[in-house]
Amino acid sequence: MFGSVAFHRVAAIIAATLVLGPDGRAQASWDVASGQAIATHGRFQPIMNRIHCHCAVASSSLVQLRDRVFTMSREPTDWLQWHTPYHDPASPLSRRLAIVQQQLKWALPPLLERPLRVISICAGQGNDVLGVLQTYPHADRVHARLVELDERNVHTALKQVEALQLRGIEVKCGDAGRLAAYEGIAPADIVLICGVFGNISEADIFRTIDALPQLCGRGASVIWTRTRRAPDITPAIRRYFAEHAFVETAFDAPDEVEFSVGVHHFVGGPQSLQPDHRLFSFVV
Ligand SMILES: C[S@@+](CC[C@H](N)C(=O)[O-])C[C@H]1O[C@@H](n2cnc3c(N)ncnc32)[C@H](O)[C@@H]1O
Repeated sequence: MFGSVAFHRVAAIIAATLVLGPDGRAQASWDVASGQAIATHGRFQPIMNRIHCHCAVASSSLVQLRDRVFTMSREPTDWLQWHTPYHDPASPLSRRLAIVQQQLKWALPPLLERPLRVISICAGQGNDVLGVLQTYPHADRVHARLVELDERNVHTALKQVEALQLRGIEVKCGDAGRLAAYEGIAPADIVLICGVFGNISEADIFRTIDALPQLCGRGASVIWTRTRRAPDITPAIRRYFAEHAFVETAFDAPDEVEFSVGVHHFVGGPQSLQPDHRLFSFVV
């Protein structure tokens, strides 16, 4: 019997074989390290252990492909359930939320001379933005767009917006990976990218940072999160921000947890939005 996990594993191996098929210019040997790890659980071990791919692709592509093979072998995440640890104030997720909310509070000006624009990319149930705006004295002058794909989370966020009577808040059900989702709200003063960088490929993380000048007004704050679970790529992310017209204003990485929260200030020139451009696709 092929269960869905077994199906995904076989699909992953086929995909790996297609992408890494020998091209006669063998420069890198990949003995399907990830395949061996997968094979230890399944009936396909003998087949997978025989697969050896020789190819001329760069090692970074191999790492991405390995990640994709692992990802394809996982069950999809239930993004409604994912929010459950927020009910426990001591959970790492709640602790992360508290730091994000604090950073958002600091990013909100004490006096508003003009309406303020906020974008939340993959907003989930909107806990960060809504939790802060409910006590912000100028919330009626904030226009925020929360973009979230899961209808159940959109519904929860909308109920909260209604309960708090936050009239300038839009909760948009759609694909936050497409820049079209931000037409009419970009350039923003604050952009949140929380719970995103851990769920997309490294290439997509850097592609997203590259495109931020299309979402950020001059002086905008970007609040982002990323796990520091090994291999910790937060140093590379921080360096990339610094090399692309962002100045780091905070990086919270408490010792006893894996999450980190970064804040970067945009010092470059805003760019016009290219709605057809794609930032990322979730891999889980
Ligand atoms: C890790 S959760 C983070 C939620 C929220 N930002 C937070 O920190 O509480 C990721 C969220 O992204 C949503 N999501 C996944 N793919 C998406 C996409 N292409 N566009 C918009 N939302 C997406 C999921 O439904 C989920 O709610």
